[in-house]
Amino acid sequence: MFNISAEEYWERWYAAIRERYSVRQFDGRPVEDKDMAQLHDCASMLREVFDDIRIAIVPVEEDGLADAVDGIKGARRIAAFIGSADGEQIRSRIGFLGELFLLECTCLDLKTCWVGGAFDKHYCSQIFEIGEDEVIYAVSPIGYSDAVPSDTHDDRLPMKELCEPEEYEQAVPAVQEALQSARLAPSSMNRQPWKFILEAGEIRIEKRLHLSLGNKILEMDNGIAAAHIEAVLRQNGIRGTWAFLPDTIVCTY
Ligand SMILES: Cc1cc2nc3c(=O)[nH]c(=O)nc-3n(C[C@H](O)[C@H](O)[C@H](O)COP(=O)(O)O)c2cc1C
Repeated sequence: MFNISAEEYWERWYAAIRERYSVRQFDGRPVEDKDMAQLHDCASMLREVFDDIRIAIVPVEEDGLADAVDGIKGARRIAAFIGSADGEQIRSRIGFLGELFLLECTCLDLKTCWVGGAFDKHYCSQIFEIGEDEVIYAVSPIGYSDAVPSDTHDDRLPMKELCEPEEYEQAVPAVQEALQSARLAPSSMNRQPWKFILEAGEIRIEKRLHLSLGNKILEMDNGIAAAHIEAVLRQNGIRGTWAFLPDTIVCTY
């Protein structure tokens, strides 16, 4: 049994979407035991979603933090999003679960920052004791901070660039709200690479951007957007069924 029911978790994550922002400067305080207990509960709950993805959290001192990630200071914990090396659509599924975990951190007033590129894979593999067929796809520092959102936190593309205005206008309010909340999702370099395609009873998340290098990280971004969509649909009493497919994520509701 978990501390919190799945329904309560989803309600908490829904509320956290508008509160979350990336922080890179932390105040050095260790994460309190009660918050760690809650994060372990959440990671155990999420462990049951996909059998090839796990979230691990380790303590770090300042030197270890500097060895693990670039440009982050003062965090006393790091989480890693770990999956099988050859899992199908592993990055989009990692994005989905990882974002739910970071929203739980937000609920506990802990700050975070997705780090998908700027971490030392060799060093992190050691501190997280990575198995032979496992890969760390991203990490996040976790800690307390009074830092305010960055100047670019509010820079989000208008909906008309992300979804055909006609499709958006015809959508039910819950789906419109879901897309608005996906629009607020974090993405690597704030690229917001997603495109939303609406059909009767279906939301598809596809890539609006195609990068010659770095396409893989866009898949993680799209999984993150999917997590926001699911939280809003559930809040509105709608249950989606998700299919993580090559190049697209489909929610049927
Ligand atoms: C998959 C992913 C990878 C990211 N990688 C990094 C990174 O390597 N270094 C970093 O400082 N920020 C990284 N970020 C944070 C983004 O820059 C940040 O989420 C984005 O600029 C939006 O800002 P916000 O999170 O405050 O809304 C990453 C975000 C995502 C979603």
